Amino acid sequence: MRVLLTGGMGFIGSHTAVVLLEAGHEVVLYDNLSNSDAAVVDRITEIAGRRPVFIEGDIRDENLLVETLSSRAIEAVIHFAGLKAVGESVEKPLDYYDNNLAGSISLFKAMRSCGVKKLIFSSSSTVYGEPAQLPLTESCPTRKATNPYGRTKLQIEEMLSDLAVADPSLSIVCLRYFNPIGAHPSGLIGEDPNGIPNNLLPYVARVASGRLPELHVYGNDYATPDGTGVRDYIHVMDLAEGHAKALEYASHSRGWTAVNLGCGRGYSVLEVIHAFEKASGRKIPYRLEPRRNGDIAANWCDPSLAARLLGWKASRNIDDMCRDAWNFECRQSARQSHSETSCCK
Ligand code: NAD
Ligand code: UD1
Repeated sequence: MRVLLTGGMGFIGSHTAVVLLEAGHEVVLYDNLSNSDAAVVDRITEIAGRRPVFIEGDIRDENLLVETLSSRAIEAVIHFAGLKAVGESVEKPLDYYDNNLAGSISLFKAMRSCGVKKLIFSSSSTVYGEPAQLPLTESCPTRKATNPYGRTKLQIEEMLSDLAVADPSLSIVCLRYFNPIGAHPSGLIGEDPNGIPNNLLPYVARVASGRLPELHVYGNDYATPDGTGVRDYIHVMDLAEGHAKALEYASHSRGWTAVNLGCGRGYSVLEVIHAFEKASGRKIPYRLEPRRNGDIAANWCDPSLAARLLGWKASRNIDDMCRDAWNFECRQSARQSHSETSCCK
């Protein structure tokens, strides 16, 4: 299939591009590079052995999208592009509504103009808010999010559901990711946020390699087995494979569907630290801190709908996730210091 990946140069998009290229799809990456590096396209090519097309562009540029969709005869879109930092979304809500919401509207209009009917959307477990029950199934209520980032995800899901009612020939799958971590086993692509990471795994990796001095563990008084927050971590390669399955599903289905992508079990912050220590052979110094605003105690999903509908199930465990995140951290810190040898050895 000829597939356009908005935000395809980012963390999840680049891994998905590799999986799709390896499966024989024609891949066009459309990205404004606001949170990614132009070198990623070479790394994807090195891994997959085939070069995707890269178009530098913004999803708010409807004309460029129309031109790209039509000239490349695109059959399906996977929509990753968006801003994703929760704290920043509270400080700059207009940027989030403009980029994520207005950007999505521009994309959906361009798809309509060009008759592109298949869409996979990057949603998030954040749409469930504070879980009413665990594990979370897709029939659990979605709730008012605690921040503008989360609200854009829910609003885009709702907009897509309305579009599917208005045009029954559309095929739309909203993938609700739980906590994607890890990296491609080559260490060529992974997650390396600018500045101080907000998310647990990139932070832990930088402490292990010595790029940061210690981890802050936000809260040890939650009603969880060891008091720290519990999440459903999922290897980014499993997630990428889930997109390939969702694309197959979208090619023969109609309507709007939301599907959880997670492993179906939770790990606490302390369990993640121990798994990373095992993978890296490094001690991770940490300090207990008060809870972080907006955090929930625990969430994990029931991934059985993904198994039934998409024929997908995560196959990599927390040790695989930490091993691959560590391998990427070692290679990335070596690349950034332009040294032949990694600080991790
Ligand atoms: P990322 O920041 O690594 O990738 C997003 C990509 O989109 C970047 O390459 C960025 O340059 C691009 N982009 C942003 N705004 C754009 C615009 N206006 N036009 C064109 N390109 C634009 O993020 P990611 O972790 O790969 O996340 C991908 C998607 O999945 C996002 O929509 C995110 O909200 C969603 N998501 C991520 C997580 C997570 O933990 N990583 C969890 C749930 C959902
Ligand atoms: C966060 C976002 C979520 C978003 C997801 C992916 C918040 C409140 N939620 O999820 O909306 O979809 O990222 O971008 O930001 N932790 C520490 N120390 C750290 C970092 C995290 O102890 O330095 C803990 C957190 O308290 C949490 C767990 O680690 O218990 C996971 O945190 P994180 O990786 O930020 O993901 P979420 O909060 O689940």
